[in-house]
Amino acid sequence: MTQPFIIAIDGPAASGKGTLSRKLAARFDLPHLDTGLTYRAVAHALLESGKPLDDEDVAVDAAKSIDLGKLDRNVLAVHTIGEAASKVAIMPYVRVTLVEQQKAFANTLPGAVLDGRDIGTVVCPDAQVKLYVTASPQERARRRWLEIQERGNLSGIEAEYETILTDIKKRDERDMGRADSPLKPAEDAHLLDTSQMDIETAFAKALSIVKQAQLA
Ligand code: C5P
Repeated sequence: MTQPFIIAIDGPAASGKGTLSRKLAARFDLPHLDTGLTYRAVAHALLESGKPLDDEDVAVDAAKSIDLGKLDRNVLAVHTIGEAASKVAIMPYVRVTLVEQQKAFANTLPGAVLDGRDIGTVVCPDAQVKLYVTASPQERARRRWLEIQERGNLSGIEAEYETILTDIKKRDERDMGRADSPLKPAEDAHLLDTSQMDIETAFAKALSIVKQAQLA
């Protein structure tokens, strides 16, 4: 193998892209990077230091010092950090700094699975496979709500369905509407709408798309 094999997965919050990415990485024995965690780590550093979320100099310093091997999902998964991450993510120099590290991760042999918002469009435009995973806002809110019920509401988010739905729509607007690297499918991405699918069905579809790309 001389070229890294890269699977790029994009989509909005709670679309199922994280679960699919982890399953694909395990199936193809590839390292996985959840790039959302990198934006969350920067947001976390700013929140901890008490600096405003739009202080680009401090945010870029935080972005330079993150360690991709030490992103702690348990710490970073909380709702407030996700919200802060989507504000930090509009700053161009923060993105440039993180994208550089994400590209290096992807382009190391044997390749990798990366998921986020701009993987197929910006981070890995030459990826062998691109998936755009989506689901209706209502279905994504329902999944989040169920997840929170199962975790016993320890995540710091209101477990009200309507609140979750409003938050999801706001986050979509912010991620799709920003000037730099907005969330959108790459032209050559395979669209996977999981609104009517359970995770096993979605995984089977994703698997067949990746296998086809391997043969190409
Ligand atoms: O996927 P997750 O919810 O962890 O991402 C948190 C936020 O980080 C997103 O709402 C988005 O604003 C930002 N993000 C991004 N580009 C990525 C991954 C995440 O802008 N590749």
